[in-house]
Amino acid sequence: MTLKLLDISEINMTNESRRGFIGKAFGAVAGVGAVASLVAMKRTWDPLPSVMSAGFTTVDVSSLVENKLEIVVWRGKPIFLLKYSAAMKPTEGRNVKIGDHYFSVMIGLCTHLGCIPAYRPDTKDFKCACHGGEFTADGVNVFGPPPRPLDIPPFKIDGTTLVLGEEGEEYKKLTAKA
Ligand code: FES
Repeated sequence: MTLKLLDISEINMTNESRRGFIGKAFGAVAGVGAVASLVAMKRTWDPLPSVMSAGFTTVDVSSLVENKLEIVVWRGKPIFLLKYSAAMKPTEGRNVKIGDHYFSVMIGLCTHLGCIPAYRPDTKDFKCACHGGEFTADGVNVFGPPPRPLDIPPFKIDGTTLVLGEEGEEYKKLTAKA
C-alpha cells in the first residue's frame, strides 16, 4: 500500500475559506488543550473521591495513606488531610481521631502571606517556599515569619467520612483548645 502526501494546492479552497478553516482548526485544538489542562488540574488538585454540594465537601478518609498528604478543595481553598502513622505523635487540640487513626485537617494556606506549604514526609513537617516558614505535621508554626498555626476548617465526622463546611463536635473541641 502506498501513501500519497496531501498537496495543499489540491484542496479547492479560496484564501478566505482556508484562513477560516485554519482559524477554526487552531481554535478547536486550543479549546481541547484548555479543557484537558483543566481536567488535569482538577485531578491533581482534588485527587480523592470527594463530593461537593451546597458549600459542603465530603471525603471518605478510609482510603488515605499514612504520612502522605492529600489535598481536597473546599470553597476554593486547599484543605490538607494528613493521616498519621503509628510513629507520629498526635497533639491535643490539633489532631482529630477518625476510626483508628489520627488526622490533621487544615486549610493549606500559609498564615504569613497565603502560599501553599509543601509537606515533607521524611521530616514530617511543612515548608513554605515563599519565605521559609515551617509548620509541624499538625500545622503549628515553628520557624520563620508565619504568625500562627495553619487554620482548621469547620468539619464534622460521620463514620469515616469527613464533612467540610459543617461544625461538628470534634471541630468544636479542637477550636476550643486551639
Ligand atoms: S507566605 Fe509562607 S512564609 Fe511567607
